[in-house]
Amino acid sequence: MILAPAVEAYLAELTPAPDAVLGEMQTHGAREGIPIVQPTTGALLEVLAAATGAMQAVEVGTAIGVSTLHLARGGAHVTSYEIDAERHAAAGDYLRRAGLAKRVDLRLQDATEGLAELDPGYDLAFIDGPKNLYGGHLEQIVALLRPGGLLLADNVLISGAAATQEPIANWTAERIAEMRAFNSSLVEHPELMTTHLPVGDGVAVAVRQ
Ligand SMILES: C[S@@+](CC[C@H](N)C(=O)[O-])C[C@H]1O[C@@H](n2cnc3c(N)ncnc32)[C@H](O)[C@@H]1O
Repeated sequence: MILAPAVEAYLAELTPAPDAVLGEMQTHGAREGIPIVQPTTGALLEVLAAATGAMQAVEVGTAIGVSTLHLARGGAHVTSYEIDAERHAAAGDYLRRAGLAKRVDLRLQDATEGLAELDPGYDLAFIDGPKNLYGGHLEQIVALLRPGGLLLADNVLISGAAATQEPIANWTAERIAEMRAFNSSLVEHPELMTTHLPVGDGVAVAVRQ
């Protein structure tokens, strides 16, 4: 939790209740410990996709499709990578039932390999794969974004450990150092203008200049 508990609770209260399919996905994620975006982060993805009029989006880390659903509901067509076959199949099923099958291209493929096959010109990119690969995916993603395109990354505050530098749960000293380096590389990147938001587990928002 990044914010004071009362603030978190109030923001949760202000976040739209999920419809039946999204509610099922959230229950599935919680039951099986699958790390899906928090509802406030999902709402942010949806608003940013809609606000920027993003038509083509690319995502690293589909899991069971929650963030994919939000980006697609924001109006984007989403190409998304996942290496876990069971999660990839579940995402396909949920997104079909949500009426979004035509808005998504779910690929069961390593993201590093997949991103290398794409042509540039994407309006929006969402990085939410393995945290140790964020830095490695950054240059691939920047190269795929059109000028003015939006880069988003989740978990950039990793339960606050990015700030406190105190290991907590899965966030070891090594993971903390990697995420801090990733956050700095966004801010220092010559082609990006970046801000970090304390939404959910921390979301980086950058625009390619
Ligand atoms: C944090 S979860 C994604 C959550 C999803 N974006 C959401 O919020 O609904 C990260 C996912 O990345 C997947 N993953 C791990 N390594 C990967 C790789 N090399 N390429 C693509 N996906 C990968 C994991 O299996 C996991 O399901």
